Amino acid sequence: MQPIITIKGINKTYTSGFQALKDIDLEIRRGEIFALLGPNGAGKTTLISLICGIVTPSSGTVHVAGHDIVSDYRAARSTIGLVPQEVATAAFETVAATMQFSRGLFGKPRNPAYIETVLRELSLWDKRHAKIVTLSGGMKRRLMIAKALSHEPQILFLDEPTAGVDVELRRDMWAMVRRLRDSGVTIILTTHYIEEAEEMADRIGVINQGRIIVIEDKAVLMNKLGKKQLALTLQNPLERLPEELAGHRLELSADGNEIVYTFDSQAEHTGIPELLRQLGKHGIDFKDLHSSQSSLEEIFVNLVRPRP
Ligand SMILES: Nc1ncnc2c1ncn2[C@@H]1O[C@H](COP(=O)(O)OP(=O)(O)O)[C@@H](O)[C@H]1O
Ligand SMILES: [Mg+2]
Repeated sequence: MQPIITIKGINKTYTSGFQALKDIDLEIRRGEIFALLGPNGAGKTTLISLICGIVTPSSGTVHVAGHDIVSDYRAARSTIGLVPQEVATAAFETVAATMQFSRGLFGKPRNPAYIETVLRELSLWDKRHAKIVTLSGGMKRRLMIAKALSHEPQILFLDEPTAGVDVELRRDMWAMVRRLRDSGVTIILTTHYIEEAEEMADRIGVINQGRIIVIEDKAVLMNKLGKKQLALTLQNPLERLPEELAGHRLELSADGNEIVYTFDSQAEHTGIPELLRQLGKHGIDFKDLHSSQSSLEEIFVNLVRPRP
């Protein structure tokens, strides 16, 4: 199947001279949830702004549903709904009027039935006559999604949909995004939460300092991100691992001098204390130990480090 978005050789240098995107190649599949995962400043907002025609590329091409985003901007943009990072709405409009207005901007004829469906889906139907200023934070976020969907786009971009949102609302948002995907909308979301990408995405692209450093199916990536190894250099070489220790996650090097333990660094229990206890019990002494992680893991650690 043709990708719904094709990005080729994209570079973006802002007028300040700062290069925010470097050699981006990316294809988005129709009907998937794609998470663009990266730390603050990585270039996530720049990339989606560029696909949505808000930022112009310095070089490269983007096609959305077959339309070039520069030469065929209106057609490309009409297939896209964008939920920006910041909530911004006219405070004294009503919910339904805001949605109708957004729809009008795209030159779409009135369609009250469609608007009702979206508002019901987003649990805003009861609030359709309410002024935006009276809505809770969670409702305002949902309204931003309703607005983005007002012109029946095939693709929905969500820029950091749950940044600064409490856990409960985050779960609601995730469920809602899944329902949208199930209704046939292709979803691209940006996030700096590993957990969000893990929870939501079919595929994940990791972006760092303007470069996409990996694009993987979620399951494959999570496996890579989560694995860490602990190597123990033994005091005396072992011929084989004791029965009790042999098996999964533990390997003895061919020369018998090193034991390598592979563990899930995201798990609550790494199993390391138990491993060390077992080794002690079997009288296996070690003189050195070191742990290793993939470069992805380092990026991951950087991503999840709590910000002040
Ligand atoms: N208009 C601009 N002019 C110059 N630099 C910018 C502009 N917008 C963003 N940047 C820079 O580009 C980098 C990427 O920003 P952004 O795409 O917003 O990252 P993210 O969304 O991943 O946090 C940052 O270093 C940011 O300071
Ligand atoms: Mg951003």
